[in-house]
Amino acid sequence: MKKPPAYRDPALSVDARVKDLLRRMIVEEKAMQLIQQTIGKDANPDNIGPDNPFDPLVGSVLAFDGGAAVRNAYQRAAVEKTRLGIPILWGYDVIHGWRTGFPVSLAQAGSFNPDLTERLSRVAAREAWADGGVNWAFSPMVEVAHDPRWGRVVEGYGEDPYTAGVFTAAVVRGYQGRKPGDLARPGHIAACLKHFVGYSASEGGRDYSYTDISGRALWEWHLPPFEAGVRAGARTLMSSFNDITGVPAVANYYTQTEILRHRWGFDGFVGSDWAAGAQLRDQGYADDPEPQTLAALLAGNDMDMCDGVFRCIPRLVEEGRLKAADLDRAVGRVLRVKFELGLFENPYVPELPVEKTCQLPDARDLALECARESIALLKNEPFCSVASSVSPQGAARNTPPGRSAATPLSEGGKTGKMPPYERGDAPKGQGGVLRAAGMHPLLPLDPCKVRRIALIGPMAESYQAHIGSWAARIASDATGATNYLEQVRAFFPKAKIDVEKGCGVVDDGDFDAIERAGAVAEKADLVLFACGEEGGQTGEYKSRIDLTLPGLQDALLTRLVAAGRPIVALVTAGRPLIIDRLLDQCAAVLYLWQSGARAAEAAMEILVGRVNPSAKLPMTFPRHVGQIPVYYNAHRRSRHWAKDYTADLEDALPDGPLLPFGFGLSYTEFAYGPVKVAKRGGGFAASVAVTNTGSVAGKETVFWYLTDVWATYTQPVRRVIGFEKVELAPGETKTVRLRIDPLRDLSYPDEDGQRILEEGEFRLSASGRAEASFAYCVPN
Ligand code: NOJ
Repeated sequence: MKKPPAYRDPALSVDARVKDLLRRMIVEEKAMQLIQQTIGKDANPDNIGPDNPFDPLVGSVLAFDGGAAVRNAYQRAAVEKTRLGIPILWGYDVIHGWRTGFPVSLAQAGSFNPDLTERLSRVAAREAWADGGVNWAFSPMVEVAHDPRWGRVVEGYGEDPYTAGVFTAAVVRGYQGRKPGDLARPGHIAACLKHFVGYSASEGGRDYSYTDISGRALWEWHLPPFEAGVRAGARTLMSSFNDITGVPAVANYYTQTEILRHRWGFDGFVGSDWAAGAQLRDQGYADDPEPQTLAALLAGNDMDMCDGVFRCIPRLVEEGRLKAADLDRAVGRVLRVKFELGLFENPYVPELPVEKTCQLPDARDLALECARESIALLKNEPFCSVASSVSPQGAARNTPPGRSAATPLSEGGKTGKMPPYERGDAPKGQGGVLRAAGMHPLLPLDPCKVRRIALIGPMAESYQAHIGSWAARIASDATGATNYLEQVRAFFPKAKIDVEKGCGVVDDGDFDAIERAGAVAEKADLVLFACGEEGGQTGEYKSRIDLTLPGLQDALLTRLVAAGRPIVALVTAGRPLIIDRLLDQCAAVLYLWQSGARAAEAAMEILVGRVNPSAKLPMTFPRHVGQIPVYYNAHRRSRHWAKDYTADLEDALPDGPLLPFGFGLSYTEFAYGPVKVAKRGGGFAASVAVTNTGSVAGKETVFWYLTDVWATYTQPVRRVIGFEKVELAPGETKTVRLRIDPLRDLSYPDEDGQRILEEGEFRLSASGRAEASFAYCVPN
């Protein structure tokens, strides 16, 4: 019997297999490995269709359509009908779930619970692999973003590089597994860190715009999450569309080769984003496919997505313009990932009915668990205080007919009004003051005491409101997702429920509908205002200049406020919206983001106090678009009276962001003891005791903020160097600890990424609630 070729022998090392296979390939076969075609309805030069037949030698397929069976059919052609039988890498945008809808990435970050993200990524991988045949997810998108106008903030993990890095690593572990070799096991898929790098710095938040990124900004903000992902073992990256200060990312040698390969030792492959090669022409960098291909390939971009420019590779080799070694390097990287995925041994996926692979009970339970921790409570006040601050009419109409104003709808939660913002510290609750005055925050509600609910707003009956952009195959039917109306009925079985949309999300609307909604609100003893933006308003090419509630929703709010009933705003969004009016005029505000299939249910659990909210904001909320960018870790300003983290604009009053990074209320309160810092080994050990001083259990995220007081290169006001979420029973105290490694935590990058570690004074704060100073001296 003929001995199988060496590359087919799983006992050999991946290096040996790659080498053997490369040796056998002709240039045309190699070139095809670097090309990605699409299937499904799409217009691009490499979409498979009558004018553009499928080539079984292709390296990868981006599959808009089709499931496991379709994928297997294509794979069969590649594996069984080609000379060398090289399997195809089946890729797709799996961003926050495949069929089970999990919270969008930005909402996940708000949970500050990376363990949940690792688990949901595991489920997403399992479903995408089994149902869609996917081996390669185009995620996580790990870009740190300072501008909520940019539509893609929804896909990332917020404004903090450290946090984004922690979540990036969690996704990589979830998709690829924790141990070497896991990647080849069924249900594991390759992660793709994107977009490399700096796309989020698009000028003015406009998609695809120029990005002017200094070396320091690159190293301080943009690169850390990518480095965290590479260190966690991510097997691929996607280069970005943007022009990085003169050199487009897809053609950028410094980022894709110098940093990624030479410094970080990455040995997977880089794929381009959609037609980024051809777009070098639009960017005025390279006009035709040949120079575009050379620019991308020689800079370290190995695979090309969907524009066909790499089809000129054989010609470039023949003309001696592309060296065989340069081609082999790129092809070898792609093959390496295919071997690591076990595709040569197991090219096919089982074809099972969807009920056997997706939305299984554990996945659905996890979706609920994730939503509970992603939804942030941003305001919770007694109703009367709100109504009287709104308008005299509001106060006069405060008491619904037949109900005394003294009858609280709630049994008295523990969290009070947010104080004015100060220097980024976590606001301290004023619940004590309000309780002393005999007033209870509106939430949590006692369902037995709510007799009539007006559920108003464009999202009242929408499943999609909770799903968000990049929804893969996330189901939008009742089995996959649920809406407010269904859940209000379930959680308030005794209440009469009136539903009115009032207006659409974006439509011009009709004021009669708003008036109808107002009339319904007047009869209720609780108004749930289901407002916000929908999935299609964020994502790629969904940048916006106006971040207030879209359409006529503001007008609808005005009418609801005039009805004089307590309002709980339920906001769905994929970015920080400008919600100043909601915070002023509603008694309670719950920010759901787009928290997935079970978000509505989780929101009701929070409303009735079955779940104590614990999410914190992963991104600063501006008061006005004119303040943008406003983010917590900005560099200090030049006049001592010019406060950090403020707009300091003549017409911006009050100053500061609307809500700072890290903000989020609970039904309990947490007290912080002093921060202690002691020398330990070559570094430091820090600790802080946190006590739940309220009467319900709750989860608190402790943020460790570092301030480097003096430095050769100026430093941000503060930056997160660690966080931990702890659960505390009433009265319980836990000590939260942090190890400070000077080289990792106290150093900072220069404009070329060299770490600078300087002696001197540092300040460490725990969530802005307690702080200690310490000095670092180089050990003798
Ligand atoms: C373009 C997007 O920028 C990228 O994030 C995505 O993965 C690809 N299209 C494929 O859909």
